[in-house]
Amino acid sequence: MAEETRPPEWGVSPETTANKLEHLRDLRRRARLGGGEYRIDQQHARGKLTARERVDLLLDPGSFQELDALVVHRASDFGLAEERYYGDGVVTGWGRVDGRPVAVFSQDFTVFGGSLSEAYGEKICKVMDLAMKTGMPVVGLNDSGGARIQEGVVSLGAYAEIFLRNTLASGVVPQISAIMGPCAGGAVYSPAITDFTFMVKGTSFMFVTGPDVVKTVTHEIVDFEQLGGASTHNATSGVAHFAVDGEVECVQQIRRLLAFLPSNNVDEAPRQAAAEPPARAEELLDTIVPDEPSRAYDMERVIGAVVDKGDFMEVMAEYARNIIVGFARLDGRTVGIVAQQPSVLAGVLDINSSVKAARFVRFCDCFNIPLVTFVDVPGFLPGVGQEHGGIIRHGAKLLYAYCEATVPKLTVITRKAYGGAYDVMSSKHIRGDANFAWPTAEIAVMGVEGAVNIIFRDQIATAKDPEDTRARLTAEYRERFANPYAAAARGYVDEVILPRETRSKLITALDVVRSKRDTNPPKKHGNIPL
Ligand code: HXC
Repeated sequence: MAEETRPPEWGVSPETTANKLEHLRDLRRRARLGGGEYRIDQQHARGKLTARERVDLLLDPGSFQELDALVVHRASDFGLAEERYYGDGVVTGWGRVDGRPVAVFSQDFTVFGGSLSEAYGEKICKVMDLAMKTGMPVVGLNDSGGARIQEGVVSLGAYAEIFLRNTLASGVVPQISAIMGPCAGGAVYSPAITDFTFMVKGTSFMFVTGPDVVKTVTHEIVDFEQLGGASTHNATSGVAHFAVDGEVECVQQIRRLLAFLPSNNVDEAPRQAAAEPPARAEELLDTIVPDEPSRAYDMERVIGAVVDKGDFMEVMAEYARNIIVGFARLDGRTVGIVAQQPSVLAGVLDINSSVKAARFVRFCDCFNIPLVTFVDVPGFLPGVGQEHGGIIRHGAKLLYAYCEATVPKLTVITRKAYGGAYDVMSSKHIRGDANFAWPTAEIAVMGVEGAVNIIFRDQIATAKDPEDTRARLTAEYRERFANPYAAAARGYVDEVILPRETRSKLITALDVVRSKRDTNPPKKHGNIPL
């Protein structure tokens, strides 16, 4: 152990006041060095920042108030009594992001590989408890070899204490995890419970068991990156929400995300000074939906044209791309956007997109963030794989999430709203507050071709010219039902609007419904179809 960081013998008590002050300065200096200069150099050589450098980048300059910098572990087995570091491998405290308080813990890989001990766990729990009491978001910067092996079961207990707090804090304060190195074994379950997980490309990985164990158990050969790197968890597993190029971008994106969020479940999200007129008309929207019903268009362009300054922070951008979720602002106020993406799988709802959107809807509902839903959905994806994979159960998650949500819910049907998917996507019937449709909307039980094939099957089969008959019946059916007016006639949509009016209609509606009060029946909690 390096002399520079070794805690002085207990009981050292400098005699003069000047010496006592110097003694404290010395303790602080040792604490700041974590595992020492050599290991800091090693950390940098791995292309990673230290725990303290990360905290400094995350927080407003000079705002960090550290807690427990002088905590050391109490273990003595396996030579640990000889090896103690101030802070014990995790930097904890609070500071400010854009002036608002945020709790932070930052795992220090230079001390026992950032592994979690009893004292280390206590530090994290303490700062989480403070965040819960005061209503601050919690940001966890993860870089750890997991349980501190020398402490054995004590470390498992410490993890469980953190998991409990993650769960109790869920829906009370936003919790954000950044993975900036290893995060393995049971340790992954803390980020997994938090609301958003960032992963740094190339230097971070998450898995329950590593490549060696995988090889032993299943004989699969896989490397760290393939098994649990940033791309894997952002594009394939859906475990992570953001993949970022490097640690600096990671903390910048965390700051950006925090700016969209309220500090807790009773505060409002900060309102930004609106830089654009609420009534800005966006003419490109009038021509964005193609004449041919099966042709794709890019819903990102619709979102970009509607929200303030086109500023949209997409969440899970690489996963289940047939649905888009993320944060934006309307007239300076945060909204959560959910939108089908017609250019990916025609915007169909499948297992992954349902689960992705359901979790996002629930996050917004926890934190009083109004939901704006753009609908262009041909229905749920047919197929044996989807049925056997449980599309019924997973699709029900999204339905349940929308039904239980009591935040303001605004809906714009741009084109297709077919079948059960129409009901699911924030329809009037499940407490949609302001439901708009464009003139291009097709609100129907199912797609035109499918409907004609079923209801006119006999007529087509017995016709002299079946194809002409099918075409004629399809055209008739389309004219009659593939529009928003049957729904508007019943009040299922509040207004059919010109696409260019979308922004001003949403802002006007939001102004009224944001004071909405709605509740669900008293109960311990519902039983979402998990
Ligand atoms: C104690 C640890 C440690 C650990 C690493 N170190 N992991 N010390 N407990 N879990 C120490 C190393 O001994 C080394 O100390 C220093 O940290 C840096 O580690 P290296 O191996 O040199 O770094 P690197 O090559 O980058 O590899 C990083 C690593 C590897 C992939 C994380 O260290 C590793 O595989 N560690 C063990 C991971 C593990 O099995 N953890 C327990 C999982 S079980 P020196 O003194 O040499 O610098 C678990 C259960 C949690 O976590 C359950 C919760 C419910």
